Amino acid sequence: MNCCVIGLQWGDEGKGKVVDILAESHDIVVRYSGGANAGHTVVAGGEKFALHLLPSGSVRPNVGCVIANAVVVDPETLLKEIEGLAQRDISLEGRLFISENAHLVLDYHKAEDRLREESLGKNKIGTTIRGIGPCYADKVGRSYALRMSDLKELGKLKDRLQKVVEYKNKVFAAVYNAEPLSADEIFEKCKLYADKLLGFVTDTTGLLHGAIAEGKSILFEGAQGTLLDLDHGTFPFVTSSNSSSLGMPAGCGVPAKVVDKFLGVAKAYTTRVGGGPFPSEQDNETGQYIRDRGNEYGTTTGRPRRCGWFDAVAASYSVTIGAIDSIALMHLDTLSGLKEIKICRAYDIGGEQTCFFPSNITKLSQAKPVYESVEGWDEEITEVSDFDKLPANARNYIKRIEELTGRPVTMIGVGPKREQTIFR
Ligand code: GDP
Ligand code: IMO
Ligand code: MG
Repeated sequence: MNCCVIGLQWGDEGKGKVVDILAESHDIVVRYSGGANAGHTVVAGGEKFALHLLPSGSVRPNVGCVIANAVVVDPETLLKEIEGLAQRDISLEGRLFISENAHLVLDYHKAEDRLREESLGKNKIGTTIRGIGPCYADKVGRSYALRMSDLKELGKLKDRLQKVVEYKNKVFAAVYNAEPLSADEIFEKCKLYADKLLGFVTDTTGLLHGAIAEGKSILFEGAQGTLLDLDHGTFPFVTSSNSSSLGMPAGCGVPAKVVDKFLGVAKAYTTRVGGGPFPSEQDNETGQYIRDRGNEYGTTTGRPRRCGWFDAVAASYSVTIGAIDSIALMHLDTLSGLKEIKICRAYDIGGEQTCFFPSNITKLSQAKPVYESVEGWDEEITEVSDFDKLPANARNYIKRIEELTGRPVTMIGVGPKREQTIFR
């Protein structure tokens, strides 16, 4: 079985936990989009891992890990991650494969991300400042792009960097009145990256097709969420890649029809970090209750996440465009103790009701959520391992989500640990 795990909301749905669980029964885990803007948490054997670039399968010792073409790789973060795992006796030698075509995120990308966000003031996107947008912009623009394979020819790279950094410095000075960066310093860092990382660099497309031909099972790990997709999300409050399942084939060179199952991951409520419309947001006591119980603070930036009710309109859109077969519903435990739980089942836009999510933010900003309510439950459910042992109201809530999204909920999260998962 080849499976693809996709976030159905605005990211942080619990994909890391789900991928870690499924990695046990797969040979290879592939990250195919985004970069170190992602923060995927795995809690295993009493330890917590926050992964930004390494696939969440890396925590398991025998799983192959691929960072494919469309991932933008910040080598500094990646090295820290590899070293962090090594300190915990987890080695990636011989099982980590980084695409030679993956683009490099360098200091000037992170600088530009920060300068641009600062200059936008209250109109900022609220990015993670990980250089993601500027790196993808260079990739699309081509002339100033640098890829993993460029680390192989340091002489050429040195010349390229001089030109690129000269150009960036002119722009930074003219537009932002910013201090120049040193091409030499960046080159010195690149020498280190080449030394430490080139052993992992290869043609990952060929590798993946070879593995498929041998009957190996592959798990594709989506980053971000469908509503942050550059083309199909809430533009401009999105990330700079196709973070829905539509980005998977382009991201790693493996056609979507190779995937047997697309598993969508959603929280039992909704969260968002950064700017942009969020119709079911609860900027009130309920939102704070969810934030406190769910520990809703960003894995990458530590920012408090905006919290709100489960939005079935948004989730159904993600299910539809993502060809999602079934849903993993995480953080059900967070909702314990609420008297009433609301589900947004439609939007009222200018007096008309719709169940189809408008990704256009002018329309989305006008959307008033139409709620239905279910009764909550008081019991803590973090120790429950059987669906039938959940409180009746929790079971009803899940059934209603299944009806509204038209997909079965096959996994339920009742806590951050691997074991705190109910399978159906
Ligand atoms: P990702 O980006 O989709 O991998 O999600 P993050 O790791 O950024 O955020 C999810 C957070 O929720 C992490 O802190 C997880 O450890 C935690 N988590 C995952 N599933 C559950 C769950 O079912 N219940 C609770 N309470 N926490 C969970
Ligand atoms: P994971 O994989 C949640 C959000 C940022 C910002 C917008 C653009 O952990 O679910 P960017 O740095 O990509 O240019 O920021 O996208 N964002 C995420 N939000 N989870 C993520 O990843 C995110 N990656 C980016 O907060 O609103
Ligand atoms: Mg995250």
